[in-house]
Amino acid sequence: MPELSEAEAANRLMRLAKEIARHDRLYHDRDEPEISDAQYDVLVRENRELEEHFPNLARADSPSKRLGAAPTSALAKVAHARPMLSLENAFSDEEIRDFVGRVRRFLSLPADEPVALTAEPKIDGLSCSLRYENGELVLAATRGDGGVGEDVTANVRTIGDIPQSLLRSPRAKSRGVGAEERVSTLLDTNGSEVPRILEIRGEVYMSKADFAALNERQEAAGGKIFANPRNAAAGSLRQKDASVTAARPLRFLAHGWGEMSEPLAATQFDAMQRIAGFGLPVADLLRRFETIDDLLGHYAAIEHARADLPFDIDGVVYKVDRLDWQERLGQVARAPRWGLAHKFPAEKAETTLEAIDIQVGRTGKLTPVGRLKPVGVGGVMVANVTLHNRDEIVRLGLRIGDRVRIQRAGDVIPQVVENLTRDEARADYLFPDHCPDCGSEAIAEEGEVDVRCTGGLVCPAQRIERLKHFVSRGALDIEGLGEKTIVEFVELGWLHSPADIFRLKQHRAELLGREGWKEKSVDNLLAAIEAKREPNPARFLFGLGIRHVGTVTAKDLLRCFGTVQALRKAATGESGQAELAGVEGVGPVVAEALVDFFHGEHNREALDDLLFEVRPQPFQSQAKQTEWTGKTIVFTGTLETMSRDEAKAQAERLGARAAGSVSVKTDLVVAGPGAGSKLKNAEELGVRIVSEQEWALIVAEA
Ligand code: IVH
Repeated sequence: MPELSEAEAANRLMRLAKEIARHDRLYHDRDEPEISDAQYDVLVRENRELEEHFPNLARADSPSKRLGAAPTSALAKVAHARPMLSLENAFSDEEIRDFVGRVRRFLSLPADEPVALTAEPKIDGLSCSLRYENGELVLAATRGDGGVGEDVTANVRTIGDIPQSLLRSPRAKSRGVGAEERVSTLLDTNGSEVPRILEIRGEVYMSKADFAALNERQEAAGGKIFANPRNAAAGSLRQKDASVTAARPLRFLAHGWGEMSEPLAATQFDAMQRIAGFGLPVADLLRRFETIDDLLGHYAAIEHARADLPFDIDGVVYKVDRLDWQERLGQVARAPRWGLAHKFPAEKAETTLEAIDIQVGRTGKLTPVGRLKPVGVGGVMVANVTLHNRDEIVRLGLRIGDRVRIQRAGDVIPQVVENLTRDEARADYLFPDHCPDCGSEAIAEEGEVDVRCTGGLVCPAQRIERLKHFVSRGALDIEGLGEKTIVEFVELGWLHSPADIFRLKQHRAELLGREGWKEKSVDNLLAAIEAKREPNPARFLFGLGIRHVGTVTAKDLLRCFGTVQALRKAATGESGQAELAGVEGVGPVVAEALVDFFHGEHNREALDDLLFEVRPQPFQSQAKQTEWTGKTIVFTGTLETMSRDEAKAQAERLGARAAGSVSVKTDLVVAGPGAGSKLKNAEELGVRIVSEQEWALIVAEA
């Protein structure tokens, strides 16, 4: 780093700030991190070290001083009575000795005075503050940015580990405390008084086994698959609808406290015992030590036990035991001086890359998967590793036969971090330019890293997703043809392309013989299909699943061309691309996608076949007159029951316009979880804000 000039450092800091902010958003708002905590820590460290080296480049809002991201979801915000802090990280024994040395110096302790420290696992979950008043749970909040979190009280009430009432809880009862004792004094299981105000802080998490089972259920139901237990826990807790949280197996482990009307004890260790006495779960592995060697011994023991623990941990947390010392030590911007997280190193191993297979995702994305000579990494055998995309293979210079170093950081899926035989002569790996599943051309659009199959309607890897889209609510809206049924019919070989849907009646007799199908359900399904023989042309065009063509664009195109056939003619004509790009609301990106789609041989065949079965109606542009006619609506955040395009289509059906940004002209904002600056703008401008559920009512009543 000292080699950097100040200008270079300023540049690097700017990039780091952007990068860290992006990862903050992915982690805190979307619960979908792209990098491991260890990789994130590396970025924050680099940022801090640069700022230390070039103090005049340090900014007040530096990412190394920030603590998480301010909440942006649709959940109500709550200010914490006392800030929820984070912890400094350390990775080596030496850093632990430095930490204890700093504590000693700060407190001016004599050399022979022991510094007792507690040590406990660092759970990989999300921190949560539980406020009890007179023994009753009154508020639960996520950490948010440390100062303001999200109100998750209703959600937390569904977590079995968390007592609603400290003294009536089954745990407390089983230890001999009866409800009658609440009446006069608030006594815990040891017979000592419970403070009137008691904020318990700890980690909401999901066990490894529950996480695996949840993902299986999600997959079966076509729901979101979570990357790891932490994301699953965060996604499950930060729900607007507490019944979703209730269906998720969340757990809680206390590790500290916030506001307290009176002290719990004189030491961290004893205070935690009292919290356990209130009926809250506390880590079994919490211990207190007087020497650094013993502390590090416990670290080693926890690391050893790691693979067998029921939950993911990413390190060990040390805290100065004496609370009067904690008080004196205080905190620096982000973290207390009395605590430290001793993180586990990323686990690494070396092996050989034996093959690179290409998987075609449901949206046509080609993902290279490295097949490895199986190798153990931190107790887990690893044989496959994602190589992400074509650029990543180039970056690492990977070829089949190379020795590679792989890494498993925390709970994150294994990654190749280094090619150890880059310099050896070997044949280059050529990324395929055709889809391995359907043989269609595979291309990366300009400026995009992902290579995609252009096979669209016919690529088997994309088939189910495409068919789902074709019958979805914004497209043909065929009732009774859900994912499960589509999968069943695809597996039976009855469905290849959308046209086959209209030939399903040929299988009526066979279908009647299948489990779960009765005469009524079969006839209802076939009738629902027949009802869509003359579909609305915009829904039909949208249903083809052409990239970038949502409902609004579909209408813009039809307004100009009148029919899908005419559009196709234009797209395959000589000056097709320019003609399309000139259409109001259509730009070069959409034009190119249309040209690609209509030129694809498989798509042409599938479309001909489909047009043989159905006859889209002529396009009519007028929308119905409602109180929303002429109004402007903005959708923001995650919509849970429909796609963004469907939402826009609904707005248009009411005669309203769906806009992309909030201004004084906005009449309504529909905000889902994760809504950010648009929601804030709307609040500031006093624009009416509704949830997705309220929007559904508006649509139903209009
Ligand atoms: S103490 C003021 N103890 O790790 C100290 N935190 O990286 C606050 N965490 O925000 C935290 N296990 O969400 C503490 N045994 C433990 C922990 C723990 C997990 C989380 C917590 C904290 C983050 C800091």
